[in-house]
Amino acid sequence: MALQVLVPDVGDAAEVEIIEILVSVGDVIAKDDSLVVLESDKASMEIPTPEGGKVVSIAVKEGDIVDEGTLIIELEIATAVEPAMQSAANEKNTPKSVSDESQEVMAAQESDQVSPVQASSAPKEQIIAVPDVGGADEVLVTDVLVKVGDALEAEDSLVVLESDKASMEIPTPVAGEVLEILVEEGAEVKEGDALVRLMAADQTSDPSETASAQAAPAVSAATVEAVPLKPVSTPAAPQPVATLASSLETSALVHAGPAVRKQAREYGVDLGEVIPSGQKSRILKEDIQNFVKQRLSEPSSKSSADAVSGGIPPIPDVDFSRFGVIEMVQLSRIRKASAKNLHRSWVNVPHVTQFDEADITELEAFRKSQNIELAKTGNKITPLAFLVKACVNALIKYPQFNASIESSFDHMVYKKYYNIGVAVETPDGLVVPVIKDADKKGVIQVAQETAELAALAREKKLPMDAMQGGTFSISSLGGIGGTAFTPIVNAPEVAILGVSKSKMAPVYDGIEFQPRNILPLSLSYDHRAIDGAEAARFTAHIAQVLSDLKRLIL
Ligand code: COA
Repeated sequence: MALQVLVPDVGDAAEVEIIEILVSVGDVIAKDDSLVVLESDKASMEIPTPEGGKVVSIAVKEGDIVDEGTLIIELEIATAVEPAMQSAANEKNTPKSVSDESQEVMAAQESDQVSPVQASSAPKEQIIAVPDVGGADEVLVTDVLVKVGDALEAEDSLVVLESDKASMEIPTPVAGEVLEILVEEGAEVKEGDALVRLMAADQTSDPSETASAQAAPAVSAATVEAVPLKPVSTPAAPQPVATLASSLETSALVHAGPAVRKQAREYGVDLGEVIPSGQKSRILKEDIQNFVKQRLSEPSSKSSADAVSGGIPPIPDVDFSRFGVIEMVQLSRIRKASAKNLHRSWVNVPHVTQFDEADITELEAFRKSQNIELAKTGNKITPLAFLVKACVNALIKYPQFNASIESSFDHMVYKKYYNIGVAVETPDGLVVPVIKDADKKGVIQVAQETAELAALAREKKLPMDAMQGGTFSISSLGGIGGTAFTPIVNAPEVAILGVSKSKMAPVYDGIEFQPRNILPLSLSYDHRAIDGAEAARFTAHIAQVLSDLKRLIL
């Protein structure tokens, strides 16, 4: 029987244009497949079909201006549907009156949820809140697409929200710089919840205008996917410096409808890795299927030189269950992201590791005496804080270690700031928060900040900007044990210091053996940027400073 699909309520937009038709006559489509893309002056929306079936006729063409109730397509549906069901299906596409909703969003903005932030903000600062998301009470934040410091154009997407029926990219109504991200991925939010604090580029903008602009993308979450005005692509995001978890950011900006996103989740496919074949780089279900097929076929074609990635043969998947009981556990996003970054560094950077030892007998005596005094304040210093300061001292003397190589190999980039990343072990994997401007901080402050950042990392509360901007990293396994190890350079940095557990050892002073506290150091470096002799001098310098802390004030 035939089903007519009509344009749903599209909010307060006076007119909307058909900018894309996504089906052809004769296509057999499934429930929730997108039919057309509409665009108002505020948002674009994909209109999905409420039922599966065969497209009998298309009543619109690209460029048509339409409004609520305009016939889009006629479908022949497989099972008989009562006339009453047809209208219900189309009613499902009709969200609440948007003029009412605009007021609701403004009201939400004035409510307690958001106003404290606004009250404490300068006039230019604006809070961008969740707009009306149709019938859905709570929606999931599946992706945060921006980070603190990003300069946004009006209509750039901020987050992707997902209800059980639709995913929506929420654009910023104003241009500006991101000051604070107020939600995190995985959070459940509702209309009026604050998403992002912006420093608006336009100083004259009226906050009330902003509030109603936020309501503009309101569409029925039950049936419509809102996407930003600009076609969404998957840009090669510039690699943020010094964060193993930084590639978390790269996969979110894709163009895909709710049914496709659902399928990707079911198959565990990262949409950012799928090559889109739809119009305007839209990912289709077939693209996901092809992606999965391709991945599955990779191990079996391992012997073919053409099939290996970058000339490196993949490690074949083995059916371990043939040999005994196994358990499959999904890897966390942090572990996946850091695995990708570590692998990229490992295959791109020619690593060499320089080993050395520092005599920290006096340092330890001093540290312990300081800790007795600090105990009253609840703070404590570990050897790591001294290591951070010693590294900064060495980086100032040897600037080639506080640098990056331009990918074109034309330039070295010497950084005149000293931000030290510290690898922190968390239950979800490794993250690298950064002690910013470590040259300007004392040992106690560095110790406090490291402890705070490590605690935040373990509670999964580390903001993205706390993992960015690093210039050199330290990986300390000294609290655990070991005599030496070869850390992987956190590219695009060019060196990383690994620290193992110190121990008392007999050291010959020319007359007799003395018991000394010896700290093992392992400096891995990018041999393209640094020569072996330089690495030996740099590591020896760190050892000297640790052995004689007075050098820190030189
Ligand atoms: N030698 C001997 N003892 C050491 C030491 C060293 N090199 N470094 C730390 N210690 C001691 C500390 O003094 C502390 O002892 P105390 O409680 O008696 O004072 C104890 O070991 C535990 O220190 P820890 O809590 O680990 O603090 P930290 O400041 O040394 O390290 C982190 C903080 C966040 C770096 C650490 O907790 C961590 O996550 N390390 C793992 C990093 C990692 O996985 N790296 C591998 C990347 S490849």
